[in-house]
Amino acid sequence: MRTHHCNELRESHIGQTVTLIGWVNSARDHGGVIFIDLRDREGLTQCVFHPEENPELAKLSHTLREEDVVQVTGIISARLEGTVNDKIGTGSIEIVANELRIVNKADVLPFQLDKELSNEDLRMKYRYLDLRRARMSKNIRQRSVITSAARRYLDQSGFFEIETPILSNPTPEGARDFLVPSRLNPGRFYALPQAPQQYKQLMMVAGLEKYYQIARCFRDEDLRADRQPEFTQIDIEASFIGQEDIISLVEGLLASMFQAGLGVEIPTTFPRMTYADAMDIYGSDKPDTRYEMKITDLADVFAATEFKIFRSILDGGGVVRAINAKGFASITTGQMNRLNEIAVQAGLPVKNLAFIKYENGEYKSPLWKIFSETEKQAVVAKLDLADGDIVFFAAGSRESVSTILGRVRSECAVMMEILKDSKAFNFLWVVDFPLLALDEESGHWGAVHHPFTRPHPDDMAKLEAGDYANVRAVAYDVVLNGYELGGGSIRIHEKDLQAQMFSVLGVGPEEQQIKFGHILDAFRFGAPPHGGLALGLDRIAMLVAGEDSIREVIAFPKNNKGADLMAHSPCQIGHKELREVYVQSTWKDPKLTQEKTVVES
Ligand code: AMO
Repeated sequence: MRTHHCNELRESHIGQTVTLIGWVNSARDHGGVIFIDLRDREGLTQCVFHPEENPELAKLSHTLREEDVVQVTGIISARLEGTVNDKIGTGSIEIVANELRIVNKADVLPFQLDKELSNEDLRMKYRYLDLRRARMSKNIRQRSVITSAARRYLDQSGFFEIETPILSNPTPEGARDFLVPSRLNPGRFYALPQAPQQYKQLMMVAGLEKYYQIARCFRDEDLRADRQPEFTQIDIEASFIGQEDIISLVEGLLASMFQAGLGVEIPTTFPRMTYADAMDIYGSDKPDTRYEMKITDLADVFAATEFKIFRSILDGGGVVRAINAKGFASITTGQMNRLNEIAVQAGLPVKNLAFIKYENGEYKSPLWKIFSETEKQAVVAKLDLADGDIVFFAAGSRESVSTILGRVRSECAVMMEILKDSKAFNFLWVVDFPLLALDEESGHWGAVHHPFTRPHPDDMAKLEAGDYANVRAVAYDVVLNGYELGGGSIRIHEKDLQAQMFSVLGVGPEEQQIKFGHILDAFRFGAPPHGGLALGLDRIAMLVAGEDSIREVIAFPKNNKGADLMAHSPCQIGHKELREVYVQSTWKDPKLTQEKTVVES
């Protein structure tokens, strides 16, 4: 239907007859001469209709409205001096039209495509129109480019692309499963995979050695800007490798994706930090290292303190720590309230964060009069407290202080707009994650990564001794600008160790057989040492695109209630269809009478 696309024609084409097809991006009438910008996925080309040359055609062109689909044939001419548009590739030429076919008229759109729209519901309802906008079109294209780059890189590194089942069994990745009833197996359910974890390990047992997949994963969890119920991983597994092999493979992979998506060279050796340091210094296992505001330990400053609260916390094995938000003494009351709210949500046991504000030569703080002279001097020196700064304190257990100050640190960075103009990409490996974490509520130990993760060889004795809190894993996360891009580990490949791990996690022998019999069995038949990692493709695409939500890089995302407002999913299913899969809904619509369920009605 066309000879060229709308971003192809240049001065070298002048004199040629061409045909383009696309959408009317804009139409203007300049004293009877009609100009339209014709748009396709690649760009814009100006088409001109002169009434004196072809009155019929000009009349027809006069009826064109935005988003009509039209086909235009004409001759490429140079634009008149003064009308050249340097901003677009085709800005020095135009098509002098001699044919116009209106292929499909468009109704008036529910919103303008050239304006940012804050009503996200409306964008989602008409997502196919939203995706026509330049920003979204760019994002989707960039995602495709980085996905191809990943495929190319992994293909060239000898990885096979292999698909795994979507109808599968529950996978312990820490979220709820989406369940699918089986008509052929009454009373039984598939679970959609939270990740292809077990299948990829079984492929290693199968001798495939190097696997990858652009894998769709499903997790029924609370949604956030960087979380969707279905998302895409670049999932990788390899045999006969160690942590260093995975790390250098992924560094190269990310470099190739950023090169393809943005044309930027990123260093292919990322800095590394242990989990313990990340938590102590940044209060996060995915620290944003684009700014400092590090957490400072004040144990030595308050070693001899008589301030009762600090005294008892330090004596009880807790910590006293602080961050200095440099230059933020100008914090408003509203911002202070917000910080207090965040700190309380993060576990601060009192209503307000303790602080010292140093402004115009004066220390303003509820703590100042409580501290001794030596403590005051030590605090100022240790935190490099200068005029205009504000310091926030937290005291308590090491974990809770990290969580609180980590959240306060990142909120301060937002309030202070520290990163407003930052173009930096701070990649980081966080290594030596703990293997296990105690769930305070249930009193059970859970896997920090997943149950297939290998305990650190130096910590095996601690595992045997039941000192679970201090066992590290051979697990690593790759982090970019405060986002966890990916996580992985070296796996357990021995049956007995895997069974022991399940037991530590409270999965008894019988349950192990039912849930994980296949993997325990597979490990009996010569399982190679193996390991891998999965990258969140949506998050990488988001950061490449400079967006702050993965919804902006997914063609048809769900909203924060897990709904697709365009296709109306999830939808109600009739009684008959449910009966066919042996499912009865127990949900009652509060708007209807008690006895009547929506399904029945
Ligand atoms: P993990 O659970 O860390 O590891 O997931 C890997 C990466 O997937 C992305 N991710 C998500 N992205 C969008 N929405 C979500 N709901 C979501 N959940 C996770 C993140 C994350 O770093 N099987 C292991 C990997 C392995 O051990 O090889 C796994 O799935 O970027």
